[in-house]
Amino acid sequence: MIIAVDGPTASGKGTIAKAIAAHFGLPHLDTGLLYRAVGWQVAANGGDADCEADALVAVKFADDLLQNPELRREATGALASRVSIHPAVRSALFDRQREFATQDGGAVLDGRDIGTIIAPEAEVKLFVTASVEARAHRRYLEMRDSGVEVTLDDIESDLRRRDERDRNRKEAPLVPAPDALVLDTTALGKDEAIAEAISAVEHSRTR
Ligand code: DC
Repeated sequence: MIIAVDGPTASGKGTIAKAIAAHFGLPHLDTGLLYRAVGWQVAANGGDADCEADALVAVKFADDLLQNPELRREATGALASRVSIHPAVRSALFDRQREFATQDGGAVLDGRDIGTIIAPEAEVKLFVTASVEARAHRRYLEMRDSGVEVTLDDIESDLRRRDERDRNRKEAPLVPAPDALVLDTTALGKDEAIAEAISAVEHSRTR
């Protein structure tokens, strides 16, 4: 069984995908991390994230980079969003994601285009979303708790910029698959969102 979990930044899709994977005993791939690795590597190479050729060189990052906590930083997320608009980068990362999705026994993948491009045949497709204000607030609390000094306004405008880029890019824009189930987590706590997602998966499987 392939489970696709898509949605914008800080919607809770990563937390939900991880919980679904644990609940159903499936392997999980956070595909955003691949784009983050490319973004980080471009900067480390002294390249320009907006230049497709520079980004394509960075696709050959070393696998252990995926463990680097710097990939989780906001600045790396912004670089990831910039490199992700290049079609050559997307196609270079395609096989890796496709292989993970189609492994024996199934898998859970979260990202932006899992239900539309990577695994359109996924048995279950969730599109996790929340208002930009709710997402900014969650991200703000997370960052403040980990000791990073930021303002809510800065986070909100960064999220709006990334949403705009992710939604309006030509290739694989962030849109729900027509057969995706939309889960709006604006008014839900973490546990409630996870419970709703698990019950949505159970429901889709028996359809
Ligand atoms: O989910 P995330 O914040 O880690 O993703 C970082 C960026 O990577 C996001 O702004 C767009 C890009 N991305 C993508 O284009 N396609 C995916 N499947 C996953 C992420």
